[in-house]
Amino acid sequence: MSATNLAVVILAAGLGKRMYSQLPKVLHPLLGEPMLGHVLQAAARLAPTRIAVVTGHGKERVQSYVAQWTARHRAELPVGVEPACVEQPHQGGTGHAVQCAEPIWTDSDEVLILYGDTPLLTTSTLQLLRLARGEGLLSLLVGVLPDPTGYGRVLLDGAGQIDQVVEHKDASTEQQKTTLINAGMMCASRAFLAAALPQLQPNNAQGELYLTDLLAVATKMGRSGVPHILPDHRETQGVNNRAELAFATEILRDRVNRQWMLLGVTLHDPQSTRIETSVVLQADCTLGASVELRGKTTVAAGAVIDRGSVLTDVTVAAGAHVLPYTVATEAQIGPDAHVGPFAHLRMGTVLEAKVKVGNFVETKKAHLQAGAKASHLSYLGDAEIGPDCNIGAGTITCNYDGVNKFKTVLGRGVFIGSDTQLVAPVTLGDGAYVGAGTTVTCDVPAGALVFTRAPTVIKEGWVARKRTPKGQH
Ligand code: UD1
Ligand code: MG
Repeated sequence: MSATNLAVVILAAGLGKRMYSQLPKVLHPLLGEPMLGHVLQAAARLAPTRIAVVTGHGKERVQSYVAQWTARHRAELPVGVEPACVEQPHQGGTGHAVQCAEPIWTDSDEVLILYGDTPLLTTSTLQLLRLARGEGLLSLLVGVLPDPTGYGRVLLDGAGQIDQVVEHKDASTEQQKTTLINAGMMCASRAFLAAALPQLQPNNAQGELYLTDLLAVATKMGRSGVPHILPDHRETQGVNNRAELAFATEILRDRVNRQWMLLGVTLHDPQSTRIETSVVLQADCTLGASVELRGKTTVAAGAVIDRGSVLTDVTVAAGAHVLPYTVATEAQIGPDAHVGPFAHLRMGTVLEAKVKVGNFVETKKAHLQAGAKASHLSYLGDAEIGPDCNIGAGTITCNYDGVNKFKTVLGRGVFIGSDTQLVAPVTLGDGAYVGAGTTVTCDVPAGALVFTRAPTVIKEGWVARKRTPKGQH
């Protein structure tokens, strides 16, 4: 289908009263991406010539999000096309919002109007909506909802075309019984839109210009709107309150999980796995129950992320195993590395091949080279750890003096005994050996042993003497 003269208008100026939020409604995220981003994505895939986002409530935040989205998705947008924000100066209704965007769509042949709070729509449905219009004045996406409360009801004429759309608040009890709803996507000829918008009147329960009254205008012209009926309500779900936000998120989560499973990813319990839309997985990786993958996380083939782990902006290489309940952020996990259970990898952690980080180990800006091991109960911060080092249980890099951070550097194959403090800045040469319970405060040459020991004192019989009641000597 030719897209040369298509303009897309996304309505995102609404107050979102029912969200009770400081954040503009269209910026509430579904799987990590604001709902407006999902709508922009579906629109961009149609390769339109113009995209307008109508802003109003919280306009600065919405505009800066649109700029940020554009920067991230420039490669997916047609050359020279970027979303333009248009301000709706007051909340005059959905019809008024489209009027405000007229300078953007005035050169087009066809205008597709989308609502920023209907994030589950797919590009293929939008194409079908355009096809349904054909040479007609306008087409409307019609959903079939088991509970249509709150939606505009679509009333058909005897020929199955749209007679009018009546908003829930304006509908009679009889009209409210119809389960056909306006899903919030309309495709209109530009000429019809330009002629019909000025005819809208604010004579309704909300005193607004309703976009949906365009259907009645078309009927008056003797040319009714064409319905494109989509019985699958999982695509037409709108978001007006937090319950609908959770419901829409669940639908999207199922969709994303299913796509990954069809591409060869094993999910032990798809109902509880949450994969944000920006995550990239390779076939043959495995995700346990209740795993959450966020941001720019990538997981390579053969890697296993076990139950309850939460990874944000983490790269997991082939064959790595992240054991249950690991939390990692801005970290790289190398090939065949083992992490967890209960490990905490913080920003700037780099684990090379076959590294082992065990339970209750926290790392931050720590680079563990190939084969290094920190198996239990340690804090490794601002640390460069050479290949094949062995970090004993309870090792702590003392990297902070209350004002500045300092580095700990270990060469190849350094052995750190249990319960050691490495007071940074400090460097230990290749093969150095630290005795258990040592506080290392100065550099240690390669191959040297270092330990600190308080003298051991043993007083035989001391306990019995201590406990003997007074006067019984
Ligand atoms: C709207 C439709 C309803 C449909 C439902 C689908 C109208 C009059 N009603 O109702 O038929 O069933 O969506 O989800 O169109 N907006 C603006 N400026 C405004 C008012 C709204 O930009 O002055 C934007 C909002 O940000 C939102 C969208 O338009 O993204 C829809 O507004 P909303 O108030 O959510 O309308 P609904 O009551 O959901
Ligand atoms: Mg709505």
